[in-house]
Amino acid sequence: MTDRDLVKLAGIAVPDLNNLRAGRREPTAIERVAQSLGLRPESVIALANEAWSAPAIALPTTVLKFTTPFADMTVNHYLVWDPKSLQAIAFDAGTDADPLFAALTRHKLVLTKILLTHAHGDHILELDRIREKTKAPAFAPETEPVEGCEPVPNAKRFKVGALTITAHAVPGHSVGGTVYEIKGLETPVAVVGDVIFAGSIGGIRSRYRPALEAIRAGVLSLPAETILLPGHGPITTVAHELAHNPFFP
Ligand SMILES: [Fe+2]
Repeated sequence: MTDRDLVKLAGIAVPDLNNLRAGRREPTAIERVAQSLGLRPESVIALANEAWSAPAIALPTTVLKFTTPFADMTVNHYLVWDPKSLQAIAFDAGTDADPLFAALTRHKLVLTKILLTHAHGDHILELDRIREKTKAPAFAPETEPVEGCEPVPNAKRFKVGALTITAHAVPGHSVGGTVYEIKGLETPVAVVGDVIFAGSIGGIRSRYRPALEAIRAGVLSLPAETILLPGHGPITTVAHELAHNPFFP
């Protein structure tokens, strides 16, 4: 959408749009632009006023989040295990696997699988090192192959000890973007990669509306208490995103 299309659609003047871009927070203009773009106005206004904050959520005790640096940002990867069998699964690989190796040793875990949400470089940088050290097989979305990884078709199920993991293909941010829903922990959890973030979504370059629908179907239709583990930023829940995410008014 061009700026001309947007000012027409929102019923604002070009200087209003320029003011927003310059960081001036005129609520009426924000509201109009948000509505025109199908965004939840109150959430966009909260972001503009720096009133947004991440929800406070406690992770189940057998889920670890690792945040590693990538250029001027950070990327998350996760370790989840079944407390009885001590069998673990790594989700994505991040940019520094040392904390993951330390956790495997500390908790006496055996890494049985590496499941990738998508193939973007920041999520798989340490894949080879994790594979070499643990000998765990790696899996990547069927429509987004990664060298040496077994394909994960939509709806594929994995059993790891008492845990069941179901893959949901959610194309949009990337062609094969895959969400892994995990059952068997004290709270349901879903590893979502860059499909959705706390208060945002991963960038979508084409087929925007179908991508939003895929997120609704593949993530926001999970049980409301499901904890979402995104590839960047804080963790969140389905309920929290249904109530606050600006992309799903
Ligand atoms: Fe990504």
